[in-house]
Amino acid sequence: MLTYKRDLKNVNWEEMKTTLSQDKFDNGRSPEQLRASFTNSYATCIAYAENRIIGTARVLSDGICNAYVVDVWTFTPYRRQGVASTMMRMLLDELQGQHICLFTDTALNFYKKLGFTKGETCMEKVIGKWLVNTLVTQS
Ligand SMILES: CC(C)(COP(=O)(O)OP(=O)(O)OC[C@H]1O[C@@H](n2cnc3c(N)ncnc32)[C@H](O)[C@@H]1OP(=O)(O)O)[C@@H](O)C(=O)NCCC(=O)NCCS
Repeated sequence: MLTYKRDLKNVNWEEMKTTLSQDKFDNGRSPEQLRASFTNSYATCIAYAENRIIGTARVLSDGICNAYVVDVWTFTPYRRQGVASTMMRMLLDELQGQHICLFTDTALNFYKKLGFTKGETCMEKVIGKWLVNTLVTQS
């Protein structure tokens, strides 16, 4: 049975890291950095099959006008069953009146189906070295 949790109680961050790694969607964060990323988010959704983490999505927002959706992922064996759409709809419901931005190079159609359109501009920069910061260090 699939369930969607909106709080971060009892999340097994080691398991999340291991499954992301297995699925080749690990961007280098340690379990502790994953915990900090999710904890510091405006809203999160984690999908479970029984007790196993099989999907994530989270949003950064000021609660008024701007939001940024990140970490949208469904574990490969559970794809094309509506998991990511469900997580996204749950998050989008909390973002009334806001402009939402996200990056994607592989899932344009997925986001188009949710009503997103392709923007023309993006500027980006990493300050210092990726994932090296004072908040939570890599293990
Ligand atoms: C993109 C991703 C999150 C979709 O997850 P999912 O749970 O399979 O998505 P859903 O089942 O809710 O898909 C709904 C619809 O979106 C479309 N869709 C799903 N994955 C897609 C993809 N990779 N590319 C294009 N369209 C896609 C399909 O039309 C699908 O409907 P259908 O199954 O009836 O054809 C998943 O493929 C994934 O984790 N990919 C790797 C991580 C990633 O790329 N994340 C997004 C980065 S911003």
